[in-house]
Amino acid sequence: MNVAVLASGTGTNLQALFDHVHGSEGISIVAVASDKPDAPALERARVARVPARAFPAEGFPDRSGRDLAIADWLTSQGAELVVLAGYMQLLSEEFLARFPDRVINVHPALLPAFPGLAAVEQAISYGVKVFGVTVHFVDGGVDSGPVILQRAIELPSAREPAEVLERLHPIEHELLPEAVRLIARGAVSFDPANPRRVVIER
Ligand code: GAR
Repeated sequence: MNVAVLASGTGTNLQALFDHVHGSEGISIVAVASDKPDAPALERARVARVPARAFPAEGFPDRSGRDLAIADWLTSQGAELVVLAGYMQLLSEEFLARFPDRVINVHPALLPAFPGLAAVEQAISYGVKVFGVTVHFVDGGVDSGPVILQRAIELPSAREPAEVLERLHPIEHELLPEAVRLIARGAVSFDPANPRRVVIER
């Protein structure tokens, strides 16, 4: 299965995909795209010798124009699954229509709690004692698509986003590659009785 990754930042989740799924079980990362030309994620792709391209907002008339350009490039690279690994832009319906049920995202909270930006900060301000990670399919909403994998961690006295993220990152780096492997293996489907429910055959 050919995988494309979109990333806006440091790219540690992208690196986990390079380290744990790229080149094994028939999975190849064939393209990495970013909205940020200086995203370290792009450099990680170059080091891994995977085609990498930036699509900055200034180069396009609007979001949908940019998204279509990204979709065209990913398609030309043969992408079959699109993984959002810290991609901090909402994707247009036109983009999602090009990869139906084939866009997934990793989010640093137990959805449906704390969607959107600054999820960990939201969770700390709320005063939660349990944090976590969600990998989910992307739909037209903000972090609202069907959940594929989730894992919780108790951090009852956490106060600083950095300390929570330090504990969440290793979980992300396990769950995101695992979700990609499961999808590549054909082990992920939707419950016909409730398509919000993702069924995993292990
Ligand atoms: C990750 O923590 C990911 O969950 C988060 O961005 C970070 C990217 O880290 N994504 C979101 O908040 C999406 N709403 P990375 O660049 O080191 O992979």
